[in-house]
Amino acid sequence: MSILYELGGIADRAKAAAENIEKGSADLPEDRVVRCENLEFLASHAQGSVKADFIYIDPPFYSGANYKARIVEDGEVRTAEAYSDKWESFADFLEALAVRMILMKEVLAPSGLLAVHLDTRAAHYVKVLMDEIFGPDKLVNELIWSYKSGGASTKCFSKKHDTILLYSKSKKYYFEPQKERSYNRGGKPYRFKGVEEFQDENGRWYTMVNRKDVFSVDMVGRTSSERTGYATQKPEKLMEILIKSCCPEGGLCADFYCGSGSFGAAAKKLGRHFLLCDDSELAVKIASERLERI
Ligand SMILES: C[S@@+](CC[C@H](N)C(=O)[O-])C[C@H]1O[C@@H](n2cnc3c(N)ncnc32)[C@H](O)[C@@H]1O
Repeated sequence: MSILYELGGIADRAKAAAENIEKGSADLPEDRVVRCENLEFLASHAQGSVKADFIYIDPPFYSGANYKARIVEDGEVRTAEAYSDKWESFADFLEALAVRMILMKEVLAPSGLLAVHLDTRAAHYVKVLMDEIFGPDKLVNELIWSYKSGGASTKCFSKKHDTILLYSKSKKYYFEPQKERSYNRGGKPYRFKGVEEFQDENGRWYTMVNRKDVFSVDMVGRTSSERTGYATQKPEKLMEILIKSCCPEGGLCADFYCGSGSFGAAAKKLGRHFLLCDDSELAVKIASERLERI
């Protein structure tokens, strides 16, 4: 059966599975890195009274690859297994993510947002599942993270973006707009009445506008002080943009696929509480040490 026809079945199976899970009422802990299978963790906290203000997840992308981390131990650099992104089938991958997203909705505050980071392989299917789980009217943004690094292809346009699907739990959600530069055509001043214009160091004129849904942020470079050695590490700058708009100061930011802890690191630096979870021992070690250094 084609995956398109399977989508309805996947959503139904995920809903039934989530209903049949035994749920606990433990409160979400704050400022913690937890080593746990996230389904188990979400289930045991589904009925707790402490909820997350903003959840960001960067799950496996259905890439079919195994990922490693470069770590330094006793002064020696070595590589270690980080996690696997190999699945029996695409339906299995989608169903596993759908069950967890249903539980994430339960641990989310009524005014909360969930951001799901994916790429071209699965984003369009997951968007359909999120429409089912949250409702199509709860889609806040389809965000594009555009970057420069990585390989190039001669057989297609170079693939240089990821997609972040942002959904709200209710129609009354927290969102704080940010400003960014918008350059005037030709770099010249418009001199419109009532519009404040600025000039950059090269003499080009711009205005400040509300941030748009495409974020151009560099990947974490080889020599960056942010680099942890964990494959698929995401830049703190990208996390910062999301957190500033989607989580109030002092709120709780949760990531149930935390890897090296980029989201938690940005949250802590921005005065938000963090909760990180991963089932990989290596990820939890790297994330915990990273968070302790902040
Ligand atoms: C793409 S990586 C996250 C990278 C992270 N955003 C960073 O900046 O380092 C996905 C992570 O999800 C974790 N993971 C996958 N399935 C999981 C599960 N069922 N429960 C908990 N963690 C899981 C993997 O161990 C891996 O560290």
